[in-house]
Amino acid sequence: MRVVLGVAGGIAAYKAASLCRLFTEGGHDVRVLPTAAALRFVGAPTWEALSGHPVATDVFTDVPSVQHVRVGKEAELVVVAPATADLLARMAAGMADDLLTTTLVTATCPVVVAPAMHTEMWQHPATQANVATLRSRGVHVIEPASGRLTGSDTGPGRLPDPEVIHAEALAQVGAAAAGSGELPWAGRRVVVSAGGTREALDPVRFLGNASSGRMGMAVARAARDLGAEVTVLQAAVEVPAPEGVRVVETPSAADLEAAVGREFHEAGADLLVMAAAVADYRPAQVATTKIKKQDDGAGLTLELERTPDVLAGAVRRRDAEAAQHPQERRQVVVGFAAETGDEHGSVLDHARAKLARKGVDLLVANEVGVGVVFGQEDTTVHLLTPDGPVRTVGPVSKDEAARAVCEAVTPLLG
Ligand code: CTP
Repeated sequence: MRVVLGVAGGIAAYKAASLCRLFTEGGHDVRVLPTAAALRFVGAPTWEALSGHPVATDVFTDVPSVQHVRVGKEAELVVVAPATADLLARMAAGMADDLLTTTLVTATCPVVVAPAMHTEMWQHPATQANVATLRSRGVHVIEPASGRLTGSDTGPGRLPDPEVIHAEALAQVGAAAAGSGELPWAGRRVVVSAGGTREALDPVRFLGNASSGRMGMAVARAARDLGAEVTVLQAAVEVPAPEGVRVVETPSAADLEAAVGREFHEAGADLLVMAAAVADYRPAQVATTKIKKQDDGAGLTLELERTPDVLAGAVRRRDAEAAQHPQERRQVVVGFAAETGDEHGSVLDHARAKLARKGVDLLVANEVGVGVVFGQEDTTVHLLTPDGPVRTVGPVSKDEAARAVCEAVTPLLG
């Protein structure tokens, strides 16, 4: 994707360097357009090295290629970070007195603006009126974060973290592609568990499983792209969490159970998706020192005990709390099931039984076997709800399967 990164003259300009990296590392072609004032904070060589393109601020550079029109017309996303009070005013007035502002008046793609300034400047009626004008024209203005500003003062006006700007900007592109400016899960809070738990045997050994975390991360990404605020409960994984989501480490089933209590029940989140492969058993005793092998060649017998069923526990607690507060919005719980057919029934038979047994609102069942699904890119999933028909999706990428899961959840969110 062709991304234009506009940088205005504020101290937060240095954070735009990280934002530039996030886009280039994602494979995007980034053109940086600093204002003349921005170059007093971070120089052109930095932007040229990070983006791989020359940097210009005025419309009199490279005139034959008509840059001031071409860059804006070719852009698929324009992000301005930081946007100063002055730049917001110039944008709102439709001024076109340098390369960044001429680009902004020629761009037809999504425009995302991340203001950063002192609280007084942000709250000034002129700035607020300019922001309202820009929003009314479809510009996505990210609320500044609150916190420590350049001096000793604190308050709203900080530039949000580059990861947040990056995620919101990509979400705008997704929303524009979907043909709507409103993200369907905006304001929703989603908790997704991902990866395989590890149950300690001693300080250096554990019982684990082959889950890569790809499916959970794909669900987290899909929920983020729909506009939700996402927390990933991360067990052992082979893939990183998507940008723009919060990560809580939950190595074991017990850690996961505690984190679901905090992040889903106590925080009142809208949706829990249990994509993690949670151990059903753990060593009954955890040795405090490394278990030594015996010289007599004898084997080792381990006693295992059951772990808590986190998913079933979450459904029970959700139901108990909903009975006490029937007026509150119902929290949705989604479970996953890795199934093989056997002499007692098909994959779907087992999935239907598990849907009823676990009491979840949606069960995502996938067929597994040796070398199938765990760690692989493509998957086939069956989506089961207590009273709707089964929907089968696949074989598709895990990102596509995750989008199908979210699509099935949307009507349940109420
Ligand atoms: N799960 C959980 N806690 C456990 C085990 C599983 O929360 N201790 C969740 C998984 O995250 C997943 C679903 O339950 O969402 C899958 O359960 P699964 O292990 O397939 O089901 P079981 O009821 O253990 O059935 P089976 O007898 O097939 O193992």
